[in-house]
Amino acid sequence: MKLEKHIPVLLKESIKSLNIKNNGFYIDGTFGQGNHSKLILSKLGNYGKLYAIDCDYKSIKIASSIKNNKIKIIHGSFSNIEKYMKKHNMLGKINGILLDLGISNLQLNNYKRGFSFMKDELLDMRMDNTNGIPLYKILNKININELSLILKKYGEEKFCYRIAKKIIIYRKKKKIRTTFDLLKIISKAIPIKNKFKHYATKSFQALRIFINNELNNIKKLLKSSLSVLSKNGRLSIISFNSLEDRIIKKFMKKYSSKINIPQGLPISEKKIKEINFTKLKILKKIIPSHNEIINNIKSRSAILRIAEKIN
Ligand SMILES: C[S@@+](CC[C@H](N)C(=O)[O-])C[C@H]1O[C@@H](n2cnc3c(N)ncnc32)[C@H](O)[C@@H]1O
Repeated sequence: MKLEKHIPVLLKESIKSLNIKNNGFYIDGTFGQGNHSKLILSKLGNYGKLYAIDCDYKSIKIASSIKNNKIKIIHGSFSNIEKYMKKHNMLGKINGILLDLGISNLQLNNYKRGFSFMKDELLDMRMDNTNGIPLYKILNKININELSLILKKYGEEKFCYRIAKKIIIYRKKKKIRTTFDLLKIISKAIPIKNKFKHYATKSFQALRIFINNELNNIKKLLKSSLSVLSKNGRLSIISFNSLEDRIIKKFMKKYSSKINIPQGLPISEKKIKEINFTKLKILKKIIPSHNEIINNIKSRSAILRIAEKIN
């Protein structure tokens, strides 16, 4: 079967934003099909290094086929970068971290993981299918309130309770197993269908975010980036939905704001330094050009945010 290629989003812009140094050390936390990683590698000199991370074992196989001694491949979640970099004695030495969030075209269309409601597949939805429990097993057990909350919190689905209720009713008669089982249930639960957005989009997004712990992984990575990056190290993150973007924006804002200390307050320079947690400088926000969106419609919701560690 022919594999569908992943079209990289904001490729040139995100690599430029890393300001790659010839012999610098970089992390690509979302290797995928390696489009960003390959471009980083092409810019590295003999002493440079790229740590390529992905939680999907299939991506790790792709990474393993790259013959280049500047790449170090790590199978696992980018949320653990602090642990990985500690192990490699690289804490505070990384010159740039790149994340291109979400799933790749391969995961969506080729791996039969149940990410897409356009195909009837086993409803697994794990990016790392060597860990955890597939979604269909959870849907056959979870209680109505928890399920409804997931659909609301991660999908902003206004019919969350109706969908949750239909799922509970359905599974009393028959176990939920596939994407199409779920699609049928959602279709019955939604009274009015929007012409411009598929009725299952929000629920599928919510369940994917939930099962892969996506938002918590981002929060953990952001916190760790402060100890992993070197001075002037860059943090460049491409997000694809408002939930992700809000977290990134809030984090960058928090660590780039200065605390205003009223003049004349009897407080030492040393104390000011201690309580001032300004660690980042926000550099830029970039969205895809009109041309990129025309050539790759999936890029339309992308936002690249860039910050630099200042101390
Ligand atoms: C959009 S794709 C990246 C595509 C890649 N930049 C390219 O152009 O080839 C996102 C990748 O990140 C991986 N991923 C998502 N969340 C992850 C996490 N918490 N830790 C590690 N990898 C993750 C997915 O498995 C997927 O392969």
